[in-house]
Amino acid sequence: MKNILLAVTGGIAAYKAIDLTSKLSQAGYDVRVMLTDNAQEFVTPLSFQAISRNPVYTNTFLEQNPQEIQHVALGDWADVIIVAPATANTIAKLSHGIADDMVTSTLLATETPKFIAPAMNVHMYENKRTQQNMATLSEDGYHFIEPGEGYLACGYVAKGRMEEPLQILAKVEQFINNNQLDEELDYSTFNGKNALVTAGPTIEVLDPVRYLSNRSSGKMGYALAEALAKRGANVTLVSGPTHLPQPQSKNIKLVKVQSADEMFEAVASRYEQLDIVFKAAAVSDYAPSETLNHKLKKQDGELSVTFKRTPDILKYLGEHKTHQYLVGFAAETQNIDDYAQQKLVKKNADVIIANNVGDKSIGFSSDNNDYTMHFATKDSVQLGKDTKKALADKILNELEARWQ
Ligand code: PMT
Repeated sequence: MKNILLAVTGGIAAYKAIDLTSKLSQAGYDVRVMLTDNAQEFVTPLSFQAISRNPVYTNTFLEQNPQEIQHVALGDWADVIIVAPATANTIAKLSHGIADDMVTSTLLATETPKFIAPAMNVHMYENKRTQQNMATLSEDGYHFIEPGEGYLACGYVAKGRMEEPLQILAKVEQFINNNQLDEELDYSTFNGKNALVTAGPTIEVLDPVRYLSNRSSGKMGYALAEALAKRGANVTLVSGPTHLPQPQSKNIKLVKVQSADEMFEAVASRYEQLDIVFKAAAVSDYAPSETLNHKLKKQDGELSVTFKRTPDILKYLGEHKTHQYLVGFAAETQNIDDYAQQKLVKKNADVIIANNVGDKSIGFSSDNNDYTMHFATKDSVQLGKDTKKALADKILNELEARWQ
C-alpha cells in the first residue's frame, strides 16, 4: 500500500481537500493529512481524521512520538506528498525555503515527490511573483497540477480554481504507476534514451598525500543529469570526487571515479550502449608520470615532477563514434569561441558548450554560468547567464529540436 501525505493550506478550496482525502482513501492509499493554521479557519482536523482514520498534524512542536522528529518522519513515511489547495503564500514560502509551520517544515525536509495544486484569485495566480515562485519550484522538481477556470470565491470567473479531486487522484496514480507524469514522459526526445554525463574534477595522485586536481564542483554535470532524468532518459552519471549529494532520481545511476584513467574506463566501457554523452567533467590533462606509494620527502632546493598526458576521453569518443551524439564542453579564458570551434572539429563532437572560466562569478564552482553552444552544423546559440540548473534545461531545450 502506498502512503500519501496531503498538506492542506488556507484557502476556501480546503473544503475540496476533504473530498480528496476520501477519494485517495477509497483508492486504497494510506492517507495522512497536515493542516496549516490558516487551513483550520476553513476546515477542521477532525473531518480529515474521521475520513483518513489517521492522526492529523497541525503543529510542528506537538511531538507525539518521542522516538522520532515528526516533520522529518512524516516526509520519510510518504511515497508522494500533495499540497492541495496550495495558496500563493505557501508556494512563496516553499520557493524561498521558509519552514515556519508543519507543512513547510515537512516539505523542506524531504526528497519525496511533491505535487502542488494551486488555488487562488486569478490576479494572485498571474502575479509575476507567484509565477516566479512556481517556476522555481518546478525547476526543483515539484509537479504542478494546474488550476482550472471557473467561478472563483472572490466573484471572478477565471483561472484559479483548484483542480477537481478526481483529476488530482488520476495524476497522482499516473505518477505512482510510471514514476513520472505521462506528459513529462511523452514530450521529450530524451525519453527512454541512454545518456551518460561526466561531472566534477579528476584527481591524479602523486603520493599518498598529494594530488593534482582542479576547481570543478560537479554542479553543472549533476544539473544536466537531473534535467535528463526528468525528461525520461536513463542516465549514467560518471562523477569525479565532489561534495554534492547523491542524485535522488531513480533514473540516475551514479558511478564514482577518481582519475582520468578511471573516468576513461567508465565511459568507454559503456559507450556502445549510449545514445548521447555530455562531457561536463573537467578532466585533468596531465597526471604525475609516477605514483609513489610513499610520501615524497621534503628536500632542499626546487622539486621537479614529470607529468604524462592522460587519455583524451572526448577525442576517443569522437574517433569511435557509431551512432552516439557527442556533447563536449570547452573551458576557456581567452578566444573562447575560436577555441571552442577548434575543439568541435578536433574531437569530432556534435556540440561544444563553451564557457569563460576566467570570470570568477561563473564557471568553476559557481551556481551560475554563461554558455554558448557551438554546433557541428556551424551555427551557435548563446544561452546567456543563468543558474546551472536553468542552463541544463536550456541546453536540453536546444537539443530537443536538433537531436533525433
Ligand atoms: O563542475 P562545475 O563547478 O559546475 O563547473 C563546470 C565546468 C566549468 C567544469 C564546465 O562548464 C566545463 O567547462 N567543463 C569542461 C572542462 C574542461 O575540461 O574543458 P576542456 O576545454 O579542458 O576540455 C574540452 C572537453 O574535453 C571537455 O568536454 C572535457 O570533459 C573533455 N576532456 C578533456 C580532457 C581529457 N583528458 N579528456 C576529456 O574528455
